[in-house]
Amino acid sequence: MTTSINEPHTKPNCANFSSGPCAKYPNWDISDLNLDSLGRSHRSNLGKERLNSVIEQTREILNIPADYKIGIVPASDTGAFEMSLWSVLNNDIGVDVYAWETFGFGWANDVKNHLKISDVNIVKAQYGKLPDLIHNENRDLVFTYNGTTSGVKLADTNWIKKDRTGLTICDATSAIFVEDLDWEKLDITTWSWQKALGGEGAHGIIIMSPRAVARLEKEGCDNRPLPKIFRMTKDNKLIDGIFKGITINTPSMLCVEDLLACYRWIKKIGGRSALQKRSYKNLEVVANWVEKHDWVEFLASNEKNRSSTAMCLTLKDSELVNPLCELLEQKKVAYDIRAHCDAPKGIRIWGGPTVESKDIEVLTDWITWAYHKLQQK
Ligand SMILES: Cc1ncc(COP(=O)(O)O)c(C=O)c1O
Repeated sequence: MTTSINEPHTKPNCANFSSGPCAKYPNWDISDLNLDSLGRSHRSNLGKERLNSVIEQTREILNIPADYKIGIVPASDTGAFEMSLWSVLNNDIGVDVYAWETFGFGWANDVKNHLKISDVNIVKAQYGKLPDLIHNENRDLVFTYNGTTSGVKLADTNWIKKDRTGLTICDATSAIFVEDLDWEKLDITTWSWQKALGGEGAHGIIIMSPRAVARLEKEGCDNRPLPKIFRMTKDNKLIDGIFKGITINTPSMLCVEDLLACYRWIKKIGGRSALQKRSYKNLEVVANWVEKHDWVEFLASNEKNRSSTAMCLTLKDSELVNPLCELLEQKKVAYDIRAHCDAPKGIRIWGGPTVESKDIEVLTDWITWAYHKLQQK
């Protein structure tokens, strides 16, 4: 038996539910951006001051320890993460890679088939699950905090040992600003502006512990040929300027100003804890809705590992996914909610802090309506 449901009257204020680039913060306006650094050299005092302000505000908002280095690097999260892998991994120490969706699988492929590290242990889980997490403190550890294409996140990093000789290298692009990151457990952390805060593409951030810096400066570590765009050391010494706003190559000052506008918004709404609250509320809205319907389910099987940013869902009738996404796009109520092409068929709703929970609530009414309407066809 199929039920007929009336078309909802209300539309979301913002129909952007993409998992990257993600929605801008509410009421974002181009006039929020300072434009005086545009058309100026990024090496001018003004340019350097703005870039350094990104670094210092990142430290303040995320509560990053004073002895950790923060750098703005090219090529978004992929650039930040791959420059980390290529710079610190080597054959002196084995590498464990934990992966449970496409981005983690990609990093595993980098380590094994491109970097050709000889001693690699890849631990995988299928979409919706986490592998058993066992930290070997004498090996490097590569992982993604929040798997954007399966909606499975780590609940914490308690399983990582404080005393370790290996480095921990974490792709945190879908977790940062929302999850409580324990900096003591993270030697290298990366993220992209386009996702966490609805910033712009092109740039990434790399955050490094003193131990990570010591590895970079270790004798022999910079013997591997590296393109200039990835190089963080010169003559076995860290290029310190990168961590003070003197970027490796030319950044987009428009993107920089956009991120600074995001930071002003964050401070206005109450800092990182407000961001976490907003995103967790989004998950609560979706979880309450899923609870009420037997035709929609979280892909993440364990509740405590459900991502509040990338909320991945499967539909009982998976054949309805494509027409449903098309219908909601035509109705201008939801853009880009189809699951990633590498993931099981389903829908994915971005619930990061820039998305309003009211909009998610309205969206769920539309999904319910569309599902029933399409079932009747
Ligand atoms: C977990 C994760 N890692 C890496 C990336 C790649 O990010 P970017 O395109 O910003 O380099 C993404 C993008 O969605 C992601 O979700």
